[in-house]
Amino acid sequence: MSDCPVSHTPDTEEGSPQFDYVHHLRLDQLLSTLRPVTDHPEEHLFVTVHHVLELWFKQIIFDLGRILTTLDEDRLPEAVWLMNRIAEILKLAEAHWPVLETMSAADFAEFRGNLTGASGLQSRQFRQVEVMLGLHEVAGDVYRQRVEAQWPGLIAEHPRTIRAAFFAAFERSGKTLLEVYRDRWRDHDLFRLAEAAFEIDRRFQSWRQNHILMVRREIGIRAKGTGGTFFRDYLATTTGYLFFPELFEFRNALTEAAGGEVMEDGEGGCPA
Ligand code: HEM
Repeated sequence: MSDCPVSHTPDTEEGSPQFDYVHHLRLDQLLSTLRPVTDHPEEHLFVTVHHVLELWFKQIIFDLGRILTTLDEDRLPEAVWLMNRIAEILKLAEAHWPVLETMSAADFAEFRGNLTGASGLQSRQFRQVEVMLGLHEVAGDVYRQRVEAQWPGLIAEHPRTIRAAFFAAFERSGKTLLEVYRDRWRDHDLFRLAEAAFEIDRRFQSWRQNHILMVRREIGIRAKGTGGTFFRDYLATTTGYLFFPELFEFRNALTEAAGGEVMEDGEGGCPA
């Protein structure tokens, strides 16, 4: 006889729900949501990847709420720990693009027509992540108006952003970014905080850029998105979005201080 435990459902009080793997995770509900709308076998993967990413967005939203509290209470190591988690999740999110690319453009073309009107552009959770981080505070009026029009009240739901809490923590310390980086081993918590915030921006950028590369492979470079955009131009705009542009900008000062040259917009070009 084998020593291995058999799958075991714990005894429960009469009438109370069983508490086991299936019940804890509500797998019946979770798995029953995967219902393709066509009979094309590749739609299964398409829906799975969307579901998985929406689940990760939910986790990110949950942790952003915690990060806000820890920042406002100056519990910086905890904030950094959770911010690093978000960067790891974004890395994982990006790894879904090559998986999705195993669905060929020919396969996608065979069922895409049935998805007209459904687009990632309509992901409220994705927009909520951007808003919680504070993108509307730095991305300009067009972005802000677009969010207000699509999701009225979303911005108002998040009066305090991670951006605001991040800079407030720096202000309380009385240190500038430049000072913290120069004195990074003494001001280690703030240094790590800034690096963690930078990493979120960096991973987001990478997710956006690789999403575009995946989209080009799946539908071509001039196709109209199911959300109605000329995606080549629309998504290119979004790759310029940064939650913490200051963290990119001040690095120029480090380069300059070390004798490097920093150029102005429009000053560049190819060497003759
Ligand atoms: C074959 C797969 C996919 C294609 C061809 C595709 C295509 C596109 C296109 C063309 C857009 C621009 C808006 C539009 O006109 O529709 C877009 C936006 C977007 N997609 Fe995808 N997408 C795919 C998979 C995914 C997946 C799995 C997710 C995960 C949730 C996702 C998330 C998003 C988001 C969040 C936006 C809005 C980005 C922004 O506004 O900054 N996409 N997608």
